[in-house]
Parts: sequence; structure tokens; C-alpha cells
Amino acid sequence: MPAGGNRDSMDLKQQVAALQMQLREAEKLTALGELVGTTTHEFNNVLMTIINYAKLGLRHKDEATRDKALEKIFAASQRAAKITGSVLGMARNRSGSFQPTDLESLTEDVLILLEREMNKYRVSIDRQFGEVPKAWVDGNQIQQILLNLMTNARQAMPDGGTLTIRLAHDAENGTVDLTIRDTGSGIPPDQLPHIFDRFYSTKRGPDASGKGGTGLGLSACREIVESHRGRLRVDSTVGKGTAITVKLPVAHRETNAEASPQSTPTLGMPQPASTVSKTV
Ligand SMILES: Nc1ncnc2c1ncn2[C@@H]1O[C@H](COP(=O)(O)OP(=O)(O)OP(=O)(O)O)[C@@H](O)[C@H]1O
Ligand SMILES: [Mg+2]
Repeated sequence: MPAGGNRDSMDLKQQVAALQMQLREAEKLTALGELVGTTTHEFNNVLMTIINYAKLGLRHKDEATRDKALEKIFAASQRAAKITGSVLGMARNRSGSFQPTDLESLTEDVLILLEREMNKYRVSIDRQFGEVPKAWVDGNQIQQILLNLMTNARQAMPDGGTLTIRLAHDAENGTVDLTIRDTGSGIPPDQLPHIFDRFYSTKRGPDASGKGGTGLGLSACREIVESHRGRLRVDSTVGKGTAITVKLPVAHRETNAEASPQSTPTLGMPQPASTVSKTV
């Protein structure tokens, strides 16, 4: 190949690398935008409740109505405090650093934000939190994964259902396993190989809550899990639902930074014939 050709292909490689970096930044901004959108929406709802019950209390002088109004205002304010608490938690995590992290409280922070949305779509939440050690993660990125996976799960259950969140310790592989399971539509076997591809989406566009349709959610999850040297596993049965497991390294007392890449954990679980699985 002539020297010029070599240079051209180098330029092209550099351009591709630069574009990939820009795309990753865009993905981060999309996630941040979604977080800000969800939070603002939630906060506004709480404020509306407070304003409406304050008006009610002012209009009605009887003690019973005023007591009820104050109770509602109190409950709404507590929720507002929880929302700010969870957002501050996420903001603190925005430094992008890996730390020993309690995945249970991290999950609860995300649930506070999605609680109302889940209620609205008649999705009940089943927490199956086992005793787990801290994980060596960038908390903010894991919250981004949780938001993506839970939103996908909710969207797969348009008529409601159950969202199960499970935390378990895989001592053999040295991982904390976070599973998000839904009782939704499931993923057809021919679609499964593509769901982690960038821009792959079967959704027509954003839903009534303004979410979904870009096809970036799972590809961002995959990249984050890769940067954590973790694993992702999908098990899905059409008509029954989907379970996505994120396996993340346990935090060790000494830093994990120099830890050698993990061996591939065996993820084999007996599955019914109709269940399709994919590991990345
Ligand atoms: N829990 C699930 N149940 C059924 N299908 C799913 C589930 N999670 C993902 N999928 C499928 O994988 C596709 C890709 O998901 P991904 O989150 O990457 O994109 P999206 O949700 O379509 O858009 P967005 O980028 O806004 O998240 C979805 O369009 C859907 O077809
Ligand atoms: Mg999605």
C-alpha cells in the first residue's frame, strides 16, 4: 500500500475514535438529561400536592380537614426531601471515581425517582435484597444502568406487572449480582443478538413519559459494564418476561485497580427451552 494510503487509514481511525468519544459524551449527557427530566417532574408533582393541600387547609376552617391537609403536606415534603437526597447522592457520585459502593442504597435512590412512574403504569416492585458485600463501582454509572434497565422493564409491561430487583453475592466469581426482572413482553430470539447494538430499538419513539426509542440505553449499559470488568446476562421468554443480570466485582480491602481481569464467570443456569439467553 502506498504511504499516503497508510496515512489516510490512520486519519480515518483517529476520526472514528474521536467520533466514538463524542458519542460516549452524548450518551452521558442523554442520561443526565433523563435524570434531570425525571427529577424535575417528580419534584413538580410533590410541589403540586403541597400547594393544593395548603389551599384546601386555608379554605376549610374545620379541624379535621386542616389535619388531613397538614398530614398530606408533611408526607409530600418528606418525599421532596428524599428526592433531593437522592439527587445529591447522584451528584456526589458524578466525580466518575470507583469506590466500594453499597448497591442496595444506590438502588433505593433510583427507586425513589421511579416510584411514581411505576405506580402510574401499575408496576409493583419486589425487592429481593440479599446480604451482599460492597461492589467496586462508579456509583453514578451504575445508577445510569439501573435507570435504563428499569425504564426498559416498565416499557415492556404496558399493562402493568412486577419489577423484581434482586441483589445477590456470587462468592465463587467474586461478584455482586444485580438482576432486574420484568413480567413483560419478552424479547424474541431473533431480536436478542441486536439489543446491545447502538441505535437498535423496536420502539416507535418516546412514550407518554418521554422515554425510549433512541436505542442507546443498552449499548451504554454494555460499555459501562465492560469498563467495570463486569458481565451482563439476559434471559428472556416471549410472553413471560426478561431478566437482565449485571455482575459487578466485589470491592476488596486493597484497591481493585490493579486487580487482574476477571475470568469469565460461569453463568449457566438451567432454562426452559423457550427461554433465550445472551451474555456480553
Ligand atoms: N426488558 C425488556 N423487555 C423487552 N424488550 C426489551 C427489554 N429491554 C430492552 N428491550 C429491547 O431492546 C431494545 C433496545 O433497548 P435500549 O434500551 O437500548 O433502547 P430503547 O429502550 O429502545 O431506547 P433508549 O435509548 O431510549 O433506551 C428495545 O427497543 C427493546 O426492543
Ligand atoms: Mg431503553
